[in-house]
Amino acid sequence: MLNKTARWSLACAFALALASALCIPAQAQTYPAKPITVIVPFAGGGPTDTVARLVASAMAKDLGVPVNVDNIGGAGGTLGSSRAAKAVPDGYTLLLNHMGHVTAPFLYSKLPYDPIADFAPIGRVADVPMTLVARKNMAARNFPELLAWLRSNGKKVNYSHAGLGAVSHLCGLLLMKATGVEMTAVAYKGTGPAMTDLLSGQIDLMCDQTTNTEAQIKAGNIKVYAVTTRTRLASMKDVPTLAESGLKNFELTAWHGLYAPKGTPAAVVDRLSHSLQKALQDPALVQRFAELDAQAAKASDATPQALAAWQKTERDRWGPIITAAGVHAE
Ligand code: MLT
Repeated sequence: MLNKTARWSLACAFALALASALCIPAQAQTYPAKPITVIVPFAGGGPTDTVARLVASAMAKDLGVPVNVDNIGGAGGTLGSSRAAKAVPDGYTLLLNHMGHVTAPFLYSKLPYDPIADFAPIGRVADVPMTLVARKNMAARNFPELLAWLRSNGKKVNYSHAGLGAVSHLCGLLLMKATGVEMTAVAYKGTGPAMTDLLSGQIDLMCDQTTNTEAQIKAGNIKVYAVTTRTRLASMKDVPTLAESGLKNFELTAWHGLYAPKGTPAAVVDRLSHSLQKALQDPALVQRFAELDAQAAKASDATPQALAAWQKTERDRWGPIITAAGVHAE
């Protein structure tokens, strides 16, 4: 026989379990009830930040609450991602990261989170082409001349990227491998601040997304030598691809995904995914993406299932390439 205190404790435990079971759907029904934060694991003003702010502002219209961007740059995106992985899984802290999200484990032996197991994918966001750009006073008039200059200067060339695991870092690795030129890599918290040093001429070269380079190329503030996509970009028809410039099979397009920490209620993830799909059709976003050469994900790709499958495909594609490059961070 249970005494009065034990009966009371049991009743309380039962009531608590019932309340929390009933609470999850109720929470999903009332979600969102306060501002949402999207962590961008790179510095403000850069390419991931640009995509995130456009998506956040379009999603805010649908969700009816502010969607704020928090830039937590450093360690190639892994600092911000780690923060997002450990956030309360209630749908109020999300992560918008690019493909570096799934390639990080091949570069960092002590990653404090698992990019796949510790996150609930919400949907794919966008694909963004990359450009090989240089400081304005670079003498080379085209890619063959740039290559000749790289070959004669090697380690004297400063190549900027956003840390091990950044897509600008991956592009540099592929470039060094394809050309056989070892350059000096200079790491930043994002290619936003790296662009400042490229503009001032402190940095020689960078491979970065059009969401960061397009405006500077058009304004004539930096020089563009090639695009990393399989075919030329409609907006830069006279700029060759790296593949047609002699770097056979060179192809790299940065893709971005939206994630919630693992344990976020499925109904909340679904609500966010529908909001993302709507946001990607928002006229203001569509127009800005087009100006920046970014391609919004199709509605069928902006789903948890599609992103879950895609990130595994990409992990399997890039893992062996990064491992073969032999680059590591502790
Ligand atoms: C950024 O937002 O700074 C970039 O996406 C970094 C990168 O090159 O990966």
